[in-house]
Amino acid sequence: MKRIIIQYGGTGDLALKKLYPAYEKLIGKGFEFDILSLGRRFKDRETFISSIIDKSASPEFLTHLDYLPYDMADQKATATLIDKLKSMVEDKKNVELIYYLALQPNLYEEAIHQIQEVDASMNSICTLTKKIVVEKPFGFDLESAVRYNQILETAFVNREIFRIDHYLGKEFMQNLLIMRFHNDIIRRIWDKDSIESIQIIFDETHGVDQRLGFYEKIGVVRDTIQNHILQIVTYLTMNEPASLSSEDIAIEKVKVLKAISPVEEFSMGRYESLGVNSGHVVDIPTYAALKLCVNTYFFANIPIYIRTGKMQGEPKSLIYVKFKNTTKEVMHDQDIAENGVIINIHPELTIDISVNLKQPNTSWKSKPVRFRFNQAETFGANTPEAYEQILEKILQGDKSLFPTMREITESWRIVTPMLEHTGHTEVYPVRTLPRFASELAEKNHFEWYT
Ligand code: BG6
Repeated sequence: MKRIIIQYGGTGDLALKKLYPAYEKLIGKGFEFDILSLGRRFKDRETFISSIIDKSASPEFLTHLDYLPYDMADQKATATLIDKLKSMVEDKKNVELIYYLALQPNLYEEAIHQIQEVDASMNSICTLTKKIVVEKPFGFDLESAVRYNQILETAFVNREIFRIDHYLGKEFMQNLLIMRFHNDIIRRIWDKDSIESIQIIFDETHGVDQRLGFYEKIGVVRDTIQNHILQIVTYLTMNEPASLSSEDIAIEKVKVLKAISPVEEFSMGRYESLGVNSGHVVDIPTYAALKLCVNTYFFANIPIYIRTGKMQGEPKSLIYVKFKNTTKEVMHDQDIAENGVIINIHPELTIDISVNLKQPNTSWKSKPVRFRFNQAETFGANTPEAYEQILEKILQGDKSLFPTMREITESWRIVTPMLEHTGHTEVYPVRTLPRFASELAEKNHFEWYT
């Protein structure tokens, strides 16, 4: 079978940084497919390759990478794409086309319209199977997500639609489920009887950089909170699924999301140099801090504190699960530290369990120490990148690492107050934590994990 991935947004940041390296790895692993990259920036394949493709890319990958100058607004665009695909298919009878939309959501409608024409034309020369892959954010809000989904479903059936959240391809996410559900000692303490609070911190040092055009329409809520962060929340708080199959996991994730009320306690800000070179003021939040709760029997009232955004002093991606401390009272010792599970995601994946053990040369004094798992030390540094795992699943037609439409709509519902917020957006100096993040901590009597 001939398989072609049609890469919309083929000269964009995502394609260059994440998708092409992942395609190269998959081709190296023996997967068979060609990539047809669509973009407006270059006039031909040669210029495309010499201008933006990594000089160290393998010759084998390059033989599978083609380019078509493509402007969706051009009347002749669809016909040109059809001609190109016909020439790539040659005389193959069975063809699979994978349309990968790394586009702004407002372009879906036009893209789908064109794709339907391509399908009809290709169907007349071969037996066609097809898939469509849609990048996050899926829509701009609840209403548009539902509308875009209806558009998708006019041309594709559910099993052909892959909605991306690359965090589901990350090792730490999959590890969360294994850690929680394959360990009785952890499973038994993972609920509101034992957990005091949870923090999710995703501080990034980079700014919006080359992605300003995309980001200024999106902002931090659509970029990471509606998707990556809420997916992490579901993995941290779902109940035991009947099995680790994608269907059973999705059932539990939806229950979690339905148990989260629209966010009430939040603040947002943008870094002060955002868009300075663009010649216009860009007023979109790049950082947010918020609190939410998952109101299920097992997790109700555990506060989940979240902070995430750009242009911070140091990269910090971690989850901190803090346990209740009854020992202090029982032992009459206020110095006994809380137990915690700390999942550090960046720069390397480690999971620490912090417990108290005896400090030498003291009389019954304890000190918090950590038992550490280090992914690279234990399993080697060759864990596949998230996008490689995600793309492999798409090629295999396996939907286990993709959020369902139910999850996506529930997530939009939860963040709606943040999207509709018209109040104050703090402007924070680069490399500093916005004031409101510290205020959230003060108000709720906790300290951000350092
Ligand atoms: C992307 C966001 O989805 O995730 C980016 O658009 C963000 O703004 C990125 O930086 C973080 O992903 P990762 O894999 O680098 O943790």
